[in-house]
Amino acid sequence: MEYIENARPFVKWAGGKRQLLPTLTELLPKEPISVYCEPFLGGGAMLFHLQPEVAFVNDLNSELINAYNVIKNQADALIETLKTYENTKEFFYEIRNLDRDLQIFSALTEVQRAARFIYLNRTCFNGLYRVNQKGQFNVSFGNYPAPNIVNAEGLYAVRDYLNRAQVHFMSGDFAYILEQLPCGAFVYFDPPYLPDIGSSSFTAYNSKCFSMMDHIRLHWWCEQLTKRGIKFMQSNSYTPIIASLYSCYDVQLVQARRSINCNGDGRGAVNEVIIRNYI
Ligand SMILES: C[S@@+](CC[C@H](N)C(=O)[O-])C[C@H]1O[C@@H](n2cnc3c(N)ncnc32)[C@H](O)[C@@H]1O
Repeated sequence: MEYIENARPFVKWAGGKRQLLPTLTELLPKEPISVYCEPFLGGGAMLFHLQPEVAFVNDLNSELINAYNVIKNQADALIETLKTYENTKEFFYEIRNLDRDLQIFSALTEVQRAARFIYLNRTCFNGLYRVNQKGQFNVSFGNYPAPNIVNAEGLYAVRDYLNRAQVHFMSGDFAYILEQLPCGAFVYFDPPYLPDIGSSSFTAYNSKCFSMMDHIRLHWWCEQLTKRGIKFMQSNSYTPIIASLYSCYDVQLVQARRSINCNGDGRGAVNEVIIRNYI
């Protein structure tokens, strides 16, 4: 299958893995990956880097997964819609506030929802995705002079990859996609990181945070995959709890540059770990 150079993440995404790709790639299994699985897809930096022929991908954020599906199946309509969107404060709040009225929001087409999602990502402050307890997007206008609202070339490249490969999308909790995996699959986990105790690390990708219980559940699933002979690699924070949970696995310490968090600061280098059930 032809490798599509320009197929890259179409959203800025907190915790995006672009700059760690060389390190992650070195730590992949040596044998070719027949079935790739990414249960916390986000912007999909690893998916687009590897461009596997068969992939099962998932994210709890249903607006994000809708955008992937629309790029795959209705890219022309999406681009035409985005072309009509303006980079003004008034227009931004008009689009942002569509989710304040559930009747209006549920009447939007998939294309309109995907266009809204991409537009907000390009024009809101720091490209954050943050919703309140009611699921309403609440990041303010970024006031950027010339955001790239319509990156047609990039969107078509993503469309081409998604149509050439067999990429199966799901939106739900990470556990569902793992139940269905065939033996021989490879899983890359990039969950919202466990924050360091005392830090205010950003995990609000959707209205529900990823709690300590979720990390324990994820660890349980890693044990199940290991028993089923399925290889996995996981990125997470460098914290005593993570080190202790995964003490039976291969754990590599790496340094990453943080590019977005909830305050738009915290751009220094941070320690992270890459956990594997193989070497
Ligand atoms: C660190 S980000 C992944 C970033 C991605 N690797 C990239 O390159 O952009 C974590 C993702 O997990 C998703 N998420 C949070 N809780 C989840 C859950 N319970 N199940 C599946 N996905 C979840 C978030 O919506 C977010 O997109």
